[in-house]
Amino acid sequence: MKIKTAEFVVSNSKVDQCPNSTLPEYAFIGRSNVGKSSLINMLTGRKSLAKTSAKPGKTQLINHFLINKNWHLVDLPGYGYAQVSKSTKKVFQKFITAYFENRKQMVCAFVLIDSRHKPQPIDMEFMEWMGENGIPFCIIFTKADKLKEKALHKNIENYKAEMLEIWEEMPEYFITSASAGLGKDEVLDYIDGINDQ
Ligand code: GTP
Ligand code: MG
Repeated sequence: MKIKTAEFVVSNSKVDQCPNSTLPEYAFIGRSNVGKSSLINMLTGRKSLAKTSAKPGKTQLINHFLINKNWHLVDLPGYGYAQVSKSTKKVFQKFITAYFENRKQMVCAFVLIDSRHKPQPIDMEFMEWMGENGIPFCIIFTKADKLKEKALHKNIENYKAEMLEIWEEMPEYFITSASAGLGKDEVLDYIDGINDQ
């Protein structure tokens, strides 16, 4: 898929204030700082469509972007951000889960996982929650440029083994690097495939 237009639509903290539209929607979710906003910029080829930061907790709202006038891409705040107060954290969690539970247009979520780390309980718990609630998702391993090929594949194999203890099969997954442009075509073609169904 070629991205011809990418426009910011709206930011908000309430799912009922998200665009009243029937366009299919793809959400990017994962721990704070995993690279959600950077990946969105890489996929859309726009340097600063989504705001990024080296400091975790940059994205705090549900951000809708309209792509090619026919689907929405959604940048979400990170879950499991330790440096916010407990009450703020709860608000994050609640509107994130409310978004997934209520947003019928959401056809596939991309759960971003930092390829450098071994499986983290919070990511496993989040994906289990997605599964229990019947929310379709894929995995995106991010920041692949930060590891050597061998270490990267070892980490992914390790991840697969742990996933297979919970799931019968490994969800669809992609390996990306926002800084190297890796995985762009694969993710966009996957979205295109669903939109064409
Ligand atoms: P929150 O909005 O805080 O939840 O974070 P986020 O998941 O949107 O992460 P963001 O895209 O803001 O990136 C966090 C940091 O990681 C920034 O310093 C990025 O430059 C860096 N980063 C993101 N993706 C990559 C990547 O593929 N490779 C490398 N080397 N750095 C990356
Ligand atoms: Mg962000």
